[in-house]
Amino acid sequence: MSIKEIFTTMEYGSASENSDVAQEWLANLNNTFNHYINGKWQKPKSNKYFDSNNPANSIHIANVADGSAEDVDQAVLAARKAQKQWYAIGGHARAKYLYAIARQIQKHSRLFAVLETIDNGKPIRESRDIDIPLVARHFYHHAGWAQIMSTEFKGFEPLGVVGQIIPWNFPLLMLAWKVAPALAMGNTVVLKPAEFTSATAVLFAQICDEIGLPKGVLNLILGDGKAGQAIVEHDNIDKIAFTGSTQVGRLIRKATAGTGKKLSLELGGKSAFIVFEDADLDSVVEGVVDAIWFNQGQVCCAGSRLLMQESIADELTSKLVARMKKLVIGDSLSKNIDVGAIIDASQLAKIKEMVALGVSEGATLHQANSIDDKNGCFYPPTLLTDVEPASTVAQQEIFGPVLAAMTFRSPAEAVQIANNSRYGLAASVWSENINVALDVAPKIKAGVVWVNCTNLFDAGAGFGGYRESGFGREGGKEGLFEYIQESWLTKLTTKTTKAKESKKTTKNANPAISIDQTAKLFIGGKQVRPDSGYSLPVFDASGVHIAEIPDGSRKDIRNAVEAANKAVTWSGAAAHNRAQVIYFIAENLQSRATEFADRICQLTGKSSKDAENEVNLAINRIFSAAAWADKYEGQIHVPPQRIVTLAMKEALGNIAIVAPEEAGFLGLISTIMPAIAMGNRVIVVPSRETALLATDFYQILNTSDVPAGVINIITGDRESLTDTLAKHYDVDGFWYWGTAQGSKFVEFESAATMKRTWVNHGKLYDWTSEEQINSDLFLRHAVEIKNVWVPYGA
Ligand code: NAI
Repeated sequence: MSIKEIFTTMEYGSASENSDVAQEWLANLNNTFNHYINGKWQKPKSNKYFDSNNPANSIHIANVADGSAEDVDQAVLAARKAQKQWYAIGGHARAKYLYAIARQIQKHSRLFAVLETIDNGKPIRESRDIDIPLVARHFYHHAGWAQIMSTEFKGFEPLGVVGQIIPWNFPLLMLAWKVAPALAMGNTVVLKPAEFTSATAVLFAQICDEIGLPKGVLNLILGDGKAGQAIVEHDNIDKIAFTGSTQVGRLIRKATAGTGKKLSLELGGKSAFIVFEDADLDSVVEGVVDAIWFNQGQVCCAGSRLLMQESIADELTSKLVARMKKLVIGDSLSKNIDVGAIIDASQLAKIKEMVALGVSEGATLHQANSIDDKNGCFYPPTLLTDVEPASTVAQQEIFGPVLAAMTFRSPAEAVQIANNSRYGLAASVWSENINVALDVAPKIKAGVVWVNCTNLFDAGAGFGGYRESGFGREGGKEGLFEYIQESWLTKLTTKTTKAKESKKTTKNANPAISIDQTAKLFIGGKQVRPDSGYSLPVFDASGVHIAEIPDGSRKDIRNAVEAANKAVTWSGAAAHNRAQVIYFIAENLQSRATEFADRICQLTGKSSKDAENEVNLAINRIFSAAAWADKYEGQIHVPPQRIVTLAMKEALGNIAIVAPEEAGFLGLISTIMPAIAMGNRVIVVPSRETALLATDFYQILNTSDVPAGVINIITGDRESLTDTLAKHYDVDGFWYWGTAQGSKFVEFESAATMKRTWVNHGKLYDWTSEEQINSDLFLRHAVEIKNVWVPYGA
């Protein structure tokens, strides 16, 4: 072909990356990957291995150790032995190790990139220019966090041994996201890569060995779901961090329920890519390429739902179809290709099945050219138009290069369609009007929103989801809280409350002050009778029957959640306004302090001095919540690109609170106030002993301008109310103080909706302690962090 012809056709020549060094590395290992436990390479106890192949050509890469519970046990033991010393060497020493890892990754960056590509099938351009540089950046960034841990996280300590299970779509990057923060904060790690992609994890462990990372600090277990399950179920592990499918995430949530293991889950997504009519459509087209065809669409945050404003839908569709047809699909090692291989034949089959389903449900299919290669798992970039928002391809994760396109008319409708998903991982918003983009971004229920850009990541900015996309954040300061805990939390004792029932008598007190005083539920700003029509007796401290409280039921909870949904404007209200309302609650409680103290004496038998103290502490807590309402603010991250990332603290939404039984009025106030200060609406089940105080408290709420539905109080049987709240689909967070059994129940039941839980595992908090209760622990649990990426440049 002549140069003139090349200029005319713009045909690419072949430019394949040389894989000799990677092949030599594999040959040196006899194409066999073993576990790395306690600083040694170890064969699997079962002596079994499975094959790992290059998905682009089916060529065998390695025999991979098939890990079992026995191997996991050994690794956990090694990690446990190493942990104390790893923390004790201090942040500076840990920083030096992490820095050395980062340097080594850069020195071997090409080998890492080639290995990643032949193992996973992703284009070499992506592994070389995106994955590996981000990995190095992650270790540098977290070396810094190790260095400053003692000052930035005073009063915190590591969790201990961390089990980490990662997927195959970004093998080394996911390893970095997990390992770097864990080690920086003084934890030791047992990590399992996905069965399809173990190569770069093995090279990573070699690097750790070379730099002299103390033995047992990083342990690598290879294998499939069985090995993952053994890690999840191991009783000597303090935390599980998982990235993968929602289905497995749910199993893990259930398996860890009640064990006290901390958990972070980064699961699937169905992210919206919203294009307004004033967007720069040529940029949008390139954005779509990066959103859904990058990494063959095997990206948890892939922009897989295209929402186009109706006026530009035709123009954008034809531009997209034209661009899509120019994408080059083929051998992943070729530097000229845009789209590589799908991870495995099983995933390819799933993609084909989903696309066929989409077409059968009425979508119109547009596809790029593919290649006919029987040895490789290739699937062409695909666009489905005329998709209904409720159809399967608009709702379910496909995890392939398939974009489902829909239209909308107004910004409000765009938000509605975007949020019509059980996932909540990411979104991108395209508009040249900064007012529109920044108005829409916070309204989308997603952990990350990119404005006029997509699929950008940085070690300094948190990443993670809402709803069935999981909970917890990775990256940035927010991500580090997943690997540390307040020291006082580790010293709490377990609850041994005596049954109050023993005090009950059937005696009635002076009838003039007793039975007639039947309290009601507080739902949507109104006092309402319980749906069941039943009441429960209330006894004073001496066992005398003094009143009745409503026996709330499932229907009352449903009404309360509906009322909370209607109070959504509280979450969007200015923090200053929320603070005013909360101060007003304190003011009104102050004016009735004696009455509340008397009631505390009556119900609990406390001395008047102690009761007065309790009310004063409660007022103090309310003031603290009001004070923090407009001060617990977000941050601005500064990634290396010309972008600012706004880390916004957002309310979770509806939080169910089962208040501590032993902490009475103070416990009730201490839990409600930080939750509403951060903009949440709450459905509260007060302690049984002091439920009457909660019902007295309505009067204060009614006189304090608290909007209807922000605080809903349901008295009754704590267990059955907990059951209904834990299973409710519209409850976003659940705070539970009660028994170990109840805590387990809440965590287990939350798996269906992946609501964020905070439970006490039967441990007793000291509700009078400033350190414990006025700490930002409560505020942290009351918010989720959304990172909004805004590029700049003239
Ligand atoms: P998966 O969730 O089964 O695997 C992810 C990791 O979990 C792997 O290391 C696997 O060995 C491990 N694992 C599997 N079963 C386990 C168990 N019971 N306990 C503990 N660990 C377990 O994902 P898979 O099968 O590789 O892909 C299936 C689907 O999951 C994809 O089609 C895609 O929709 C989704 N996915 C989502 C990812 C994300 O980043 N959100 C990543 C990978 C897959």
